[in-house]
Amino acid sequence: MQSTSEMIQPIKWQDQQLHLLDQRLLPTQQLWLNYEHASEVSDAIREMVVRGAPAIGITAAYAVVLAAREAWNKAGVNWKQAMYEPLAKLAASRPTAVNLTWAIEKMTALYVNLPETYSPETALLEAAIHIHQQDIAANQTMGKLGADLIDPDSMVLTHCNAGALATGGGGTALGVISQGYSDGKIKHVYVDETRPWLQGARLTAWELMQGKIPATLQADVTAASLMASGNIHWVIVGADRIAANGDVANKIGTYSLAVLAKYHQVKFMVVAPLSTIDWQTETGKQIEIEQRPSREVTHIANQQIAPDGVKVSNPAFDVTPAELINAIVTEAGVVLSPSMTTMKNLRKQN
Ligand code: MRU
Repeated sequence: MQSTSEMIQPIKWQDQQLHLLDQRLLPTQQLWLNYEHASEVSDAIREMVVRGAPAIGITAAYAVVLAAREAWNKAGVNWKQAMYEPLAKLAASRPTAVNLTWAIEKMTALYVNLPETYSPETALLEAAIHIHQQDIAANQTMGKLGADLIDPDSMVLTHCNAGALATGGGGTALGVISQGYSDGKIKHVYVDETRPWLQGARLTAWELMQGKIPATLQADVTAASLMASGNIHWVIVGADRIAANGDVANKIGTYSLAVLAKYHQVKFMVVAPLSTIDWQTETGKQIEIEQRPSREVTHIANQQIAPDGVKVSNPAFDVTPAELINAIVTEAGVVLSPSMTTMKNLRKQN
């Protein structure tokens, strides 16, 4: 089987430009957009041309390269000061996925030590490519570690999109699912459509079909009766930010799945690279949850479905308490029954 990552790479650096596959148009159109300005990349992240925590981090790293080129061209030896504004805009583009600030901090730690007297572009590009490649390798390791936890012929449910489109490589949750399918551990995948943005219907279903992995798309509200049927063994999802105690912020609806899974004795796996763990945030209560525009709820595919002027709540993420999670899988190892204490082993390696 060809892994989905061999076919789908949503972020490319070519001809000194950043190229992003426009995920707003998938699966019906494949359009690539090219970026030469960091501020346009910030807009692209906010508008979800690119989305998914690790993909946002990688994109931000390349945006720092563009910001440095512009700063050097504009300010010469004062280029470091000229980086402040574009990087502040970049950091504010989406608040929940910690990979964004993780990548900006990594790139900043490098550039503050670069000489002021020559262009920083080459050194920063090397660092951005390294971040991108590290994520590809992390996806492969997590795929194997996660698949090892699953019994043969299992049925799994996933939510949102934590696949190649959301990362640099084969995906986090979908990396485990691809590996599990190749190893005979997984025989079927149920995919939540993931209202309101429909990442499951538009992106995950598409990726699984490209990888020829047997999958069934369902409305989010179907999960309870699917679990009650006894035909599901694991829920496998990604994460946008994991607190030091193992609480997980992920796509809205993840928390309800975890509650349902506990009741039905279905196991719950979160798959995320170390770059998604925020050791500064002690518990999930402190994680900022992004509120997205009402239009994402009042419209589907530009078609209005709700009355004019209705009040809307549209949090993009929710927080699943660590006690509802059986395993957090990272490239540095698996944490079973996550808690402040069990997460500490991972921290030593980070
Ligand atoms: O709003 P999105 O599409 O960026 O949300 C994405 C998710 O919630 C993913 O599950 C998460 O970022 C992990 S992606 C490997």
